[in-house]
Amino acid sequence: MMPTSPFNVLYLSAEMVPYARTGGLALVAAALPRALRQLGDDVRVILPRYGLIDPEQHRLERIIESFPVPFENGMEMAGLWQARDAEVPTYFIEHGRFFGDRQGIYSFPDDAERFIFYSRASLEACRRLGWQPHVIHCNEWHTALIPNWIRTIYAADAFFADTAVIYNIHNLAYQGIFGHRVLEIAGIASYGFMVHPQVSSGLNEAVSMMARGIIFADIIVTVSPTYAREILTPEFGEGLEPVLRDRQNRLIGILNGIDLDRYDPAADPNLPAPVLADDPKGRTACKVALQAEAHLPIRPQVPLISVTSRLTDQKGYDILTTVLEPLLRHVDAQWLIMGTGEQRYHDLLSDLQRRYPDRLALFLTWEERLARRIFAGADVFLMPSRHEPCGLDQMVAMHYGAVPVVRATGGLADTVIDHHPPVVGTGFTFRNYDGMALYAAIVRALEVYRHPSVWSAIQRQGMGRDFSWTQPSYAYQDLYRRARSLKLTGAPV
Ligand code: GLC
Repeated sequence: MMPTSPFNVLYLSAEMVPYARTGGLALVAAALPRALRQLGDDVRVILPRYGLIDPEQHRLERIIESFPVPFENGMEMAGLWQARDAEVPTYFIEHGRFFGDRQGIYSFPDDAERFIFYSRASLEACRRLGWQPHVIHCNEWHTALIPNWIRTIYAADAFFADTAVIYNIHNLAYQGIFGHRVLEIAGIASYGFMVHPQVSSGLNEAVSMMARGIIFADIIVTVSPTYAREILTPEFGEGLEPVLRDRQNRLIGILNGIDLDRYDPAADPNLPAPVLADDPKGRTACKVALQAEAHLPIRPQVPLISVTSRLTDQKGYDILTTVLEPLLRHVDAQWLIMGTGEQRYHDLLSDLQRRYPDRLALFLTWEERLARRIFAGADVFLMPSRHEPCGLDQMVAMHYGAVPVVRATGGLADTVIDHHPPVVGTGFTFRNYDGMALYAAIVRALEVYRHPSVWSAIQRQGMGRDFSWTQPSYAYQDLYRRARSLKLTGAPV
């Protein structure tokens, strides 16, 4: 089981639980490095030391007072901290102006500078630690210049001579698009601006950090096999499909897992009762408690449909809101929607909630505790995303016994098996992105819900699936091996 030669892997992500989290990336960044360490690789993580990370709570200690990082035309000083008790060695780049003085993670006017600095400081930190990475695993646009640097300003640097770079796309919709000046800040302006004949002029006149990662990495990986195919098309490629097609032979999709230590429905302290695959009593208790908490009528038999995603179009709210009112009016089902997002959806849902108080409960917030109670207590878990690179919640929902109704896109297509008698599925899927297709899938699910034995067979099927990180971590290890051999044989990128 142990690989013959464990790798030193530097894993870089702008967010990671428990330190800083906005989305699924933070969960993946915690779970994958841990799974890889269990396979024997020396994986280490570096994060920015955002002001919101409490040094006492996480037992951070400063290990390097101050070291210089090339930045723009000169040097900026950084400090290096380490979390004392972390299972995966985790370091933090300290810089007051860029990170320490800010409470948030993203959406500052100088985000380009901040993440270029974080990326460059992370490379220099390895040198300071005397720890030579065999592979650098970069995530999202925040670290996308690293593959570019390794092929340019670090090309003649002995310390990184054998370092291969993996570039991991989690969501192509966030590319990090900036003006030409970012190349000066990053010290690569002299290598020129890049244009691609098939890319739209808008993108050619700007710097897409994501594009740089795709062009220069030894291997590009994204978070599901279906998404890896979808992004080669204009519908999903966000304008980068020509660049991705050029590098298609280096592009692969590996499905994310979920952290089964984190999500254990049989022993989740947030639930009123343990949820077990072979005993429905626990789920009934969870459903009743959820109805009470949501101020819905306590009716264990009525189907309870839930949605917990951000209130945005990407997550399917544009089509959901075209069918929600007819469903509320005509179908005896309860709805529970939790999330925050675009104001127009806050308003529209609040209005529906006022008009259908016995059928719709609305939580305009996002709470982990409530999310877990929803996975355990709702019957249907809805994720009608327009695009979904992987999606983690549908897996957690199945693991907790909720039956997903999803659009068959990206990781949703790769994780939910449509129930199609005689094949017992794990949920219900629809293909076309429109209200009618969504409506039909919901109705199909509610029809099956009327047959408790079939419904519980679907639930058991979902709860029995292996969503752990075991397989994915082997796949990443293979990828590291492949990237290394491509690098060492000097194969052109
Ligand atoms: C992004 C994607 C989501 C994926 C997550 C983790 O948030 O939008 O689909 O599950 O990254 O890879």
